[in-house]
Amino acid sequence: MASPSPLADLVAATQDALQAARLTFGAPIEEIDSAIAGLNGLTMPTGEATDHGEALPDTVARYLKPGDVKHIEARALLERLAAAADRLPWSPAFYPEDGHADIPLFWKNYAFAMAVSHSRWADQAMLTSSEVGLSFTVQAPHTVYPEHAHTAVELYYVISGKAHWKRGTEPWVMRYPGEIILHTTGMRHAMMTGDEPLVACAMWVSHTDAPVVIVRS
Ligand SMILES: [Fe+2]
Repeated sequence: MASPSPLADLVAATQDALQAARLTFGAPIEEIDSAIAGLNGLTMPTGEATDHGEALPDTVARYLKPGDVKHIEARALLERLAAAADRLPWSPAFYPEDGHADIPLFWKNYAFAMAVSHSRWADQAMLTSSEVGLSFTVQAPHTVYPEHAHTAVELYYVISGKAHWKRGTEPWVMRYPGEIILHTTGMRHAMMTGDEPLVACAMWVSHTDAPVVIVRS
């Protein structure tokens, strides 16, 4: 039987994934605990979730599917996300064209949905919170999310697909499902997919009303 609250299931699966990631060597414990606590503080809608009624973006329809993810919590989260996908407010990346050729391509090949966000973006998010932000992202194969930054401290969790990640001045590193990546305040970061699409979730645990800017050097 379908769950009456796919959003509550999705948040619970996110917390399970965070709890598991918390046990890995070198995990950013403090930030993970902030994300879990923020998600605990949400008031979930009761009864039937609202169906946003819009067609899924191509990127989501093509690449967000339950799949053969070996990591247990990541696979469970992927299943919950796929089950809730038609209820989430997906939108393309919102960066304005700045004359660089990568932005229109990025618009076409990336989608994100704010499950929880600051009231600043209440019209685009399912739930609002000043403590935590929770977004789900789908990035098509062979796509670069250009270097960007924000004051918000951010945790990413890889749900499915491996992708290259860049933090600050560090070299590109391949990241796999179940891994958590911390972006500290103002740290530049970028993600680049290869042959596989990337499904991930992003959690903000500070400055949840901060803008995001593309950084060109
Ligand atoms: Fe970010």
